[in-house]
Amino acid sequence: MRVERTVRALRAALAPERDRRVGFVPTMGALHEGHLSLLRAARAGCDTVVASIFVNPLQFGPREDFGAYPRAEERDLELARDAGVDVVFAPSTDEMYAPDHSTSIDVGPLATVLEGAARPGHFAGVCTVVAKLLNVVAPGVAYFGQKDAQQVAVIRRMARDLSFPVEIAVCPTVRDERGLALSSRNRYLSDDERAMAAALYRCLRAGAASIEGGGGPADAERAMERSLADAPGVVAEYARAVDPETFEEPGAGRPVLLAVAARVGPARLIDNLPVKGS
Ligand code: PAJ
Repeated sequence: MRVERTVRALRAALAPERDRRVGFVPTMGALHEGHLSLLRAARAGCDTVVASIFVNPLQFGPREDFGAYPRAEERDLELARDAGVDVVFAPSTDEMYAPDHSTSIDVGPLATVLEGAARPGHFAGVCTVVAKLLNVVAPGVAYFGQKDAQQVAVIRRMARDLSFPVEIAVCPTVRDERGLALSSRNRYLSDDERAMAAALYRCLRAGAASIEGGGGPADAERAMERSLADAPGVVAEYARAVDPETFEEPGAGRPVLLAVAARVGPARLIDNLPVKGS
């Protein structure tokens, strides 16, 4: 497995791979089973697997956890090697952004609701770094997790609108035995807090049960809110039933995405569950 630190070296390493199917998995490191599921999917579906590890300052707000975000490069490289990754791109911030970097990608209203409303500028930061990484790696297929459903919708929109020649593959959310979606930010939680955080998945199940019982989006949202209100140690931010492409209110016959955000102890957690609409 090669580890490259500069754009120039990565391009040189990938030049001989141009005619092969290159699969790309962008990450911010602190790898867990969720990331590994993406790496394995890429390994199974592609000739060459490239992963990036870069904690992208552009996607963190001024009062967010950029400084505290877990960094564990040595272990990440071991895990990547074990998952069959061929090349890891792990650039410094200076390598990625010139001191006067000023270009940013805005996909419009989709980036201003739910997570976009809670984290202004977040999706512009995500799009900008993902666009840059796609330009450097030039993969045939890029892998993302359903865990970050709005990120998937935003990146699909960007790739379509700007004609990126890449297929976007989405892998299911990996959860622990209690249903808590794996996240690098779970490292901020104590054992007790992790147990309390399983309430997010219970809330999504309550919303799904409401829809399966014939309820509409508003019924599902009420069921989710009730479920979260009963959960100790969980401060709800939003619990919504939305269209998985636009993140607006789902129309009749459209699929529904149940999405939740809440604070548990020091962490802000998100989760979602796709369900069939009516
Ligand atoms: P990061 O949070 O490190 O996640 C990297 C990828 O792993 C994302 O596509 C994310 O959705 C996926 N992932 C995280 N937890 C998962 C889980 N429990 N199950 C399945 N997939 C999971 O998302 C980012 O980094 C960044 O925004 C990035 C796209 C790298 C741009 O900086």
